Amino acid sequence: MGRFAKRVSLLLPAVLMAALTLALPAGDGGWAQDEEKPYRIKDGVVDWYTFSGFRRYHAECHVCHGPDGLGSTFAPALAETMKTMSYEDYLDIVVNGRENVGTTAQSKMPAFAENLNVMCFIDDIYAYLMARADGVLGRGRPKKEPKPAEAKERDDSCLS
Ligand code: HEC
Repeated sequence: MGRFAKRVSLLLPAVLMAALTLALPAGDGGWAQDEEKPYRIKDGVVDWYTFSGFRRYHAECHVCHGPDGLGSTFAPALAETMKTMSYEDYLDIVVNGRENVGTTAQSKMPAFAENLNVMCFIDDIYAYLMARADGVLGRGRPKKEPKPAEAKERDDSCLS
């Protein structure tokens, strides 16, 4: 997680830092983990944060981006997008929104900076989408590890 966290710290305002740093699970707890990946998956079971990302994605993003990151006629398939998009660009678009004005239609990605239900879980959603983009997580609700105490503390302090 070192390199990942360091890049983040260069780019984000301090308010986001606490949530983002805590969002990355520390230690491996015996899980097979690729240091470069924001998620952990073992025998088809995902870490809590990735599961949290699945839930938040389906609460906040699904309506436009389709189930399981598969896209809709209205907004792009994020399971595809995240194959190439950088973490920094992802953060920028989710925090600030984006608007492409085409010749026939206008499509708008809303800014979520004011929405705690997204901002507190922006790394969880990223982890979920990366697992989908990497093809290591199938469609639907994943099996999950129990919610760790640190995750509960993180959520409580971020949402309050
Ligand atoms: C109201 C509909 C709507 C919601 C809700 C929404 N998006 Fe979007 N999003 C869009 C549209 C439309 C675009 C394409 C905008 C553009 O190209 O400028 C987009 C683009 C994006 C992109 C860039 C995709 C690409 O391929 O370039 C990312 C990343 C993204 N959204 C993430 C999210 C996440 C994460 C959430 C949930 C927290 C979310 N969006 C919720 C409509 C939405």
